[in-house]
Amino acid sequence: MNALPASVRVVEVGPRDGLQNEREFVPTATKRELIARLAAAGLRSIEATAFVSPKWVPQMADAAELLRTLQRTTGVDYPVLTPNLAGFEAALAAGATEVAVFAAASESFSRRNVNCSIAGSLARFVPIMEAARDAGVRVRGYVSCVLGCPYEGAVAPGRVRDVAAALYDGGCYEVSLGDTIGTGTPLATARLVACVAERVPTHCLAGHFHDTYGMAIANIYAALQSGVAVFDASVAGLGGCPYAPGASGNVATEDLVYLLDGLGIDSGIDLEALMDCAVWISERLGRRPASRVTLARRGCA
Ligand code: HMG
Ligand code: MG
Repeated sequence: MNALPASVRVVEVGPRDGLQNEREFVPTATKRELIARLAAAGLRSIEATAFVSPKWVPQMADAAELLRTLQRTTGVDYPVLTPNLAGFEAALAAGATEVAVFAAASESFSRRNVNCSIAGSLARFVPIMEAARDAGVRVRGYVSCVLGCPYEGAVAPGRVRDVAAALYDGGCYEVSLGDTIGTGTPLATARLVACVAERVPTHCLAGHFHDTYGMAIANIYAALQSGVAVFDASVAGLGGCPYAPGASGNVATEDLVYLLDGLGIDSGIDLEALMDCAVWISERLGRRPASRVTLARRGCA
C-alpha cells in the first residue's frame, strides 16, 4: 500500500461523458456556461466535448461550434475525444490543444462503441498520434470496460494492461482506466492497478469510475492507496454511456472532492462553488443531482 498523495488532479468529464447520453439536445450556450462554471469552481482539466460521428452520438453534434466559442480560462485544459483522424483534424481546426483517444479492453464493446476491433481502433490512433505530435497537441488515452464488460462479463486485468501499454507506448501522456459499467470493487481495482503498472507507470494512470453499483468512491480510495493520483469525475454525477446499457454517470465530482477534502488531499476545487454548479446544471436538465454530497448539503434529497 502506498502513502496517499498530497494532491490529486481531477479531470471533469461532465460536459462530455455526462451529457453525451442526454436525449434532449442541450443548447451549446448551456454547455459553454457549464464549462465556465466548472473552471470558476477550480477544475483545471475539463473534457469539453467529443468529435465523434453525430449519427452515433447526436448530443455531441455541436463539438466544433462549442470548442471554437469556449471562453477559455488561463491554466485550464479542455481535452476533447477524437476517435479517428477526421475527428482529430476537426478538433484541431476548432482550437483543440489536447485530445483523448479511446479503446476498449473488450472486443464486443469496441465493436459497438467505435465499429471496429480493439486492434483496429489502436491502428486508427497511429495517424492521430503523428498529427498530434506535429501540432504540439497532448493526447490522453482511455481504456473502457477495465473491470467488466456489458456484453462479455469479466475482463482479465492482463487484457487491460496490454491495451493500456499500447496507448502509452504510442505516445499517450496518461491512460485513464474506465470502469464503464461500474461493476468494479476495491480489491479488483487494486489488482487491476498493480497489473497495469507492470507496463504503465502509476503516475501516468488515471481512474475513471462510473457509479452504477455505488462502488466508485470505494474504488477511488483503493486506487489512491495503489498510487493513482488522477481521477475523472462528472459534476452532479451526470452521465451514462450510449453503448453500455444501464450504465450510470461517473462518480460525482462533488463526492470525489468531499472524499479528498476529508483525506486532506488538495484538489484545488471549491466544493461550495462546485455544488452551485451541480444544482444549476441539474435544474437545466430537469432532474435532481446524483451526488450524495450535493443532495445532503443542499437539501434537495
Ligand atoms: P463508422 O460508421 O464506422 O465510421 O463509425 P465511418 O468512417 O464509416 O463514417 C460514418 C459516417 O460518420 C460518415 O458520414 C463520416 O463522415 C462520419 P456520412 O458519410 O455517413 O455522412 N464520421 C464522423 N463525423 C464526425 N466526426 C468524426 C467522424 N468519423 C466519421 N470523427 C466512428 C466509426 C468511430 C466514427 C463512430 O463509431 C463513432 O463516432 N463512435 C463514437 C462513440 C462514442 O462517442 N462513444 C462514447 C464515448 S466512449 C466512452 O464514453 C467511454 C469513456 O467514457 C471511458 C469509459 O467510461 O469507459 C471514454
Ligand atoms: Mg465514461
